[in-house]
Amino acid sequence: MHSHLLAALDDGVKSHDEAIEIINRFYQLGYTRLITTPHIMSDTYRNTPAGITEKLHELKQEVATAGIPVQVEAAAEYYLDESVLALIDSDSPLLTFAGSYFLFETNFYSEPFQLKDFIFKSLTKGYKPILAHPERYAYMTMEKAEELYHRGVLFQINSLSLIGFYGKPIQKLAQKLIDQKWLHLLGSDCHNLIQVQLQTEIMQAKYYRKALDLPLLNNQL
Ligand SMILES: [Fe+2]
Repeated sequence: MHSHLLAALDDGVKSHDEAIEIINRFYQLGYTRLITTPHIMSDTYRNTPAGITEKLHELKQEVATAGIPVQVEAAAEYYLDESVLALIDSDSPLLTFAGSYFLFETNFYSEPFQLKDFIFKSLTKGYKPILAHPERYAYMTMEKAEELYHRGVLFQINSLSLIGFYGKPIQKLAQKLIDQKWLHLLGSDCHNLIQVQLQTEIMQAKYYRKALDLPLLNNQL
């Protein structure tokens, strides 16, 4: 789960052909189901459930034509800004997967002032909020992670973090989160062919195997 495989909707793949090549690689690695999550960000990527659903439909047809036995679903990666708060406040349904799970990300540098309010409201509305790649935020510490964890936020670590793709400090924080068992989902956050090609290396990483020993929701949803 967590990838950017719907063509030209965000900074992920540029074409269906590129998506098909990536999906085929995932299939060769043993994946049979992918949940792709285009960015929804009011400033940059103004994607809507209708637009995402339409693009998913096209991609599924391409996957069927290519004869790849992988089930592709779509949700979204919501950037925490005023527009996603407005969606929650107005009871507009969010794009979820496996019932009520939804993926969100925040500003990379400082903790958004609305973070706690957003978590509280989304839980109150019956959602299960998943924070995308907690290890990648400059403001994230183990203390902050513990607080969010106990507030009911689920954590999704990027498998790319486990081989130092985003740098050593991010790799270290991912390892600490795994050591604490504060990990609910592993995601690829795959945007392009290079990132899927790195999965082979990831699968040999010690902390990847350590993460797979945890009761991850990937295996249950
Ligand atoms: Fe992402």
